Amino acid sequence: MTAVEVWWAKIGDVRWELIAELDEAERGRLAAYARQEDKDRFLLGCAVTRRVLGIHLMIPPSDVRLDRKCEDCGRPHGKVKVEGMQLSVSHSGDLIGVAFHPTAPVGLDVEKVDLGIDANSLAVVSLAESETKELTKYEPADRARAFTTYWTRKEAVVKATGDGMRTDLRRLVVSPPDQPAALLEWPGYDGRVQLDDLEIGSDYAASLAILSPDPVTVNSIDAAPLLKQTG
Ligand SMILES: CC(C)(COP(=O)(O)OP(=O)(O)OC[C@H]1O[C@@H](n2cnc3c(N)ncnc32)[C@H](O)[C@@H]1OP(=O)(O)O)[C@@H](O)C(=O)NCCC(=O)NCCS
Ligand SMILES: [Zn+2]
Repeated sequence: MTAVEVWWAKIGDVRWELIAELDEAERGRLAAYARQEDKDRFLLGCAVTRRVLGIHLMIPPSDVRLDRKCEDCGRPHGKVKVEGMQLSVSHSGDLIGVAFHPTAPVGLDVEKVDLGIDANSLAVVSLAESETKELTKYEPADRARAFTTYWTRKEAVVKATGDGMRTDLRRLVVSPPDQPAALLEWPGYDGRVQLDDLEIGSDYAASLAILSPDPVTVNSIDAAPLLKQTG
């Protein structure tokens, strides 16, 4: 696999037999979610991760050893680490995506566009001045989508590096929503980032960051057939 593979599942792909493939920590997290849709999204993220890695490692999904240790608190809700593969999980609305590459760290972020968000207030805490100025050019009706594009581009980058929400997103500047995705500025970070927006339907924004000096191809794959397989 020299391309990044992004495997996509829909919440309707869930099958409760998949729980058998989870480890104890994952079952604990699954049980702790109050809402059924959160349980479904989490279960699908685990199942796609385990089944794809199972194929690559040629072992059953339940034998895949995942390190989910959070670098802040030690609990099992951090970026997923596994020997021999870089990956990133994201879920929102009806969609669950998992990106894989053998060597380059990847960061995937998908967000369902919520037309009810207060984009102007969110911009204060997450956008640079230049980005906020750009956002005001959008009609109020289009602002939620434009903000969400800024957001997934930034999140993809900080998920690839593993920094996550510890980052001050106002200092990480990305290209305007109507231009191809790119990281423009992030003082202190000197690595190369390939940033792409992924087309996954008009209700969603999704971005993928790949920490690679060379261009990498991105393939999107429907995970539904993989999740249907029994035993
Ligand atoms: C990672 C983070 C940016 C994800 O935000 P989100 O948009 O709400 O959720 P997404 O569905 O896109 O991503 C969730 C996935 O990110 C991954 N993740 C968690 N921490 C991560 C990090 N620091 N870097 C990269 N990926 C991370 C996990 O695989 C998680 O999947 P899971 O819930 O199935 O375990 C955000 O949760 C974060 O920064 N968390 C770290 C800080 C924090 O709140 N820690 C918890 C308290 S110590
Ligand atoms: Zn934590």
